[in-house]
Formats: sequence, structure tokens, C-alpha cells
Amino acid sequence: MDKLRITGGVPLKGEIIISGAKNAALKLLAASLLTEETLTLYNVPQLADVNMMAKLLEQHGVAIESGPCKVGQGCTYTLNAANITSLVAPYELVSKMRASVVVLGPLLTRFGDAKVSLPGGCAIGTRPIDMHLYALSAMGAEIRLEEGYVHALAPNGLHGAEIQFDKVSVGATENALMAATLAKGTTIINNAAREPEIGDLAHCLVSMGAKIEGIGTDRLVVKGVDRLHGAEHRVLPDRIETGTYMAAAAITGGDIELIGGDVSQLEAVIEKFEEAGVTITSTARGLRATSNGKLKGIDIQTQPHPGFPTDMQAQFMAMLAVADGSSLITENIFENRFMHVPELARMGAKVVVHGHSAMIRGAEKLTAAEVMATDLRASVSLVLAALAAKGETTINRIYHLDRGYEMLEEKLGACGARIERIH
Ligand code: UD1
Repeated sequence: MDKLRITGGVPLKGEIIISGAKNAALKLLAASLLTEETLTLYNVPQLADVNMMAKLLEQHGVAIESGPCKVGQGCTYTLNAANITSLVAPYELVSKMRASVVVLGPLLTRFGDAKVSLPGGCAIGTRPIDMHLYALSAMGAEIRLEEGYVHALAPNGLHGAEIQFDKVSVGATENALMAATLAKGTTIINNAAREPEIGDLAHCLVSMGAKIEGIGTDRLVVKGVDRLHGAEHRVLPDRIETGTYMAAAAITGGDIELIGGDVSQLEAVIEKFEEAGVTITSTARGLRATSNGKLKGIDIQTQPHPGFPTDMQAQFMAMLAVADGSSLITENIFENRFMHVPELARMGAKVVVHGHSAMIRGAEKLTAAEVMATDLRASVSLVLAALAAKGETTINRIYHLDRGYEMLEEKLGACGARIERIH
């Protein structure tokens, strides 16, 4: 299993090209199931999760071609779902990637039948899919639970409905949105998630002929159409990757320009960086994060977009571990999303967890250690800590990083990081 070896202490300076957003790309790939015509996606990041979604779609019968792939411009994917051969998303694939559940809405709405393995437990909490199922049954699906699978049936197609989510869920909003595009009549999704990746998906669906109003708001109104057609769409830049490299500049007292980084997607994150003493400026090509290495303790609460994203929580914890003073991080989205704490503690971070909150007392410095990556964002928080720590850190189990960070070593290495992958 691959490991990363990082020798910390170098202020990172340079530029990094931001890849296409993983969380948008996965759903956009699944949107190909909605039409028998070809969907072309540009700027798809080369990631293990993307390969996994492609494998799942191929298993359903989608014909996929990928390439050319260019550094910084991702890959072009062409997907054609004219000959769907299976309506079942099997356990072997869904259990490896929870986002697979997003094929449920498209398959059901186009074919009236879809069977998806229940994703099962996950490292960052139980993560149920009850809201996905509620939305689909409101649109007329009959939901059966059969031997670990969700079997959704709508032999006469789905119909429009007023959906009232009692919580904000990215995945449930996406499943409901895709299902609604081909449902008969109008669907209103109230309390919809507003993450930029959902806006990106909605814009792609509109290019495919969907009728969607309220994009970017918490109320989506979808007028169902008889069929969708092919389209071309470019995946938006990854705001979490952008934020992660901003944290790399901050924690090392460096200066990095994030080419393609979009300030408008990162307002809550930028506000917190600035509060912690990091200078963020817009540039012609993206944005720039500069730090003199003097960071201040701050408080953070994770919230659905436009609030502070849970996917940036672990990275901020690494950064605040070396800030002056105390910080309080409250995780409101996922239970059990503090798995990075014991590993950061091995590197000298002073963190106390109480329920959904973590109190961080800034330490003078972090020290190198052998640590283990747990989930995607937890893993990258260890990379950040290692970049700032004195000595040589070894990070084990880095396959999590390959799920979500394209060319991580190359991007950080180009800014001066001493980082190598050990096979
Ligand atoms: C997506 C992102 C993930 C991000 C998360 C929150 C992808 C592939 N993943 O995950 O990186 O951290 O949004 O921004 O896009 N919930 C229920 N019932 C449901 C669905 C969700 O109770 O049916 C709960 C979850 O347990 C969680 C909260 O709602 O507590 C938010 O989850 P959700 O927004 O659905 O996250 P994902 O779409 O899985």
C-alpha cells in the first residue's frame, strides 16, 4: 500500500492549477443515464472516485470514452446510455463509494425501475439515505427493501410532487432533481441544498433540455419533460481542493496562487482564513493565499452552503493546531467527523473533543510522526500538518487521498514541498 513521506518546514510558494470538482463530476457522470444521447464532460478530474463511478456506469451499460487528459484541464469524458443493460447497482461497487446512490434517481425516472445496494456504514457517520427515498416516493415510486438493496419501482413513470426536506442533503437534492427532470408535471424541492456542485449539475441538466428554475437557491422548481438530449458541459473548479491548498499556504507561511480558484464559491472559507490572519486576494487567474506564518485561533461551525463546509473542517483543524490561542470547531453536518484528531495529536496537536465540538489549543510547532489516513479530508489534514511539522512524517493508507486529490504530490512539490510517494 502506498505511503507519503513529507519533510516539513518549507514555506510553499508558487502556483497550483485547480482541478474540476470531484463532487460535481460524480453526479454529472451519473446524469448521462438520463438520455440515450451522448453527454460530453470536460475538465473531469483524474481520481479514483471518478474511475469508480465510470465503472459503475459501464456496469449499467453506459458506453464511456475518456481522454484526452491534460494537466490542469482534466479529462474529456463522452458517455452514451443508449443501451442500458442493467438497472442494478451492485453491493461491490456501491459499498466502495457512497456517492453511487445517485444513480437511483436517473435510472428510476427513465426506466421506471432501479435497484441500488444500500451503501452501508461509512467512516464519517451512519449517513442514511432516507431523504433520497422520501423524495422518490413522493414522486410516486414504490420503495422496497430487498436483501440489502433498495428496489424502487414506478412502472408508469414518476410524477411531480412538492418535496419538503427537513434537513439539507446534497445527495438527496441531486437524486430528487435528476428524477424530477423526466417526471410528469412539476416538482418543487423545498429546503434544497445550495452547494455550487448542485448548481453545476442543474446547469448541465438544463443544457440537456431540463426545465429548472431557482438554481442556486433552496427552492428548485422542475417542470418535467418527456426526454432529455445530449449536451456538452465543463465541470466547475473544485472549491475544496482550492481551500485545501490555501490552507497549505497558510500553515507553512507561504504564498500560493490557485489558478482557476473561484472566490465566489468560497466566501465563508475566505472569511475564516482572513480572521485567522491569512491574506486572500483575487487575481486575474484565480486567487492567492499569503501568510507570514502567524496564525490566530478562531471559531468555526460547519453548515450547509453558503456556510462553512464540513469538507474543510479537518484542514482548518490542522492549521489551527499551530495558531496562536485557542479555537473551537463545531461539526454540525456529520457525526464522527473528528477521526483526524488522534492522528494530529500524534504530531503534537492539542485537541480535546467534546461531542460535536473540538477545542484546539494552539501549539508552538508540530512534530513529525508516523500517522494513518482515515477518510479523504482527514488524510489531507495530515498532509497539511506534515508540511508544517519539523522532521519527516510518514502517512500510511493514502488511497483515500487518491479518491479526491488529483496529482497532490506534483502540485505541492511544484511549490517547494518535500513530498514523495513510497510504493
Ligand atoms: C456530499 C459530499 C460530501 C460533503 C457532504 C456535505 C459528494 C459525493 N459528497 O455528501 O463531500 O461532505 O455532501 O456537504 O458530493 N442525511 C440523512 N438522510 C439522507 C441523506 C443525508 O440524514 O437521506 C444526513 C447525513 O447523514 C448528513 C447530512 O444529512 O448528516 C448531510 O449529508 P449529505 O448532504 O446528504 O451528504 P452527501 O450528499 O452524502
